[in-house]
Amino acid sequence: MSAFVRVCRTAEIPPGHAARVDIDAIPVAIFNVGGEFFALDDTCSHAMASLSEGELDLGRCAVECPLHGSQFDLRSGAPLSLPAVDGVGVHAVEVRDDELWVALSPPPG
Ligand code: FES
Repeated sequence: MSAFVRVCRTAEIPPGHAARVDIDAIPVAIFNVGGEFFALDDTCSHAMASLSEGELDLGRCAVECPLHGSQFDLRSGAPLSLPAVDGVGVHAVEVRDDELWVALSPPPG
């Protein structure tokens, strides 16, 4: 895991919303589910789509890809529905005071 970097203030991503940030030139999607934050690779594993632009499914703690509709579990990055069959990377998130910090996980393989 890389070092934690500050990405934004928590208030900048209200509950039920997402934002895309670039960390070391890697696009990362950050989601706020009822005050709990999750960070995933922003680029869908199926094709070129930005998961931060997808619709949150708060009940499943998942995001739906805006291009073909695969859902991804925000906790594990695993695909929950087709057409995606590969997961996306999940990154560590810490809330320090009112700021969000993210540490990138190494890419798989
Ligand atoms: S690009 Fe995400 S499901 Fe196809």
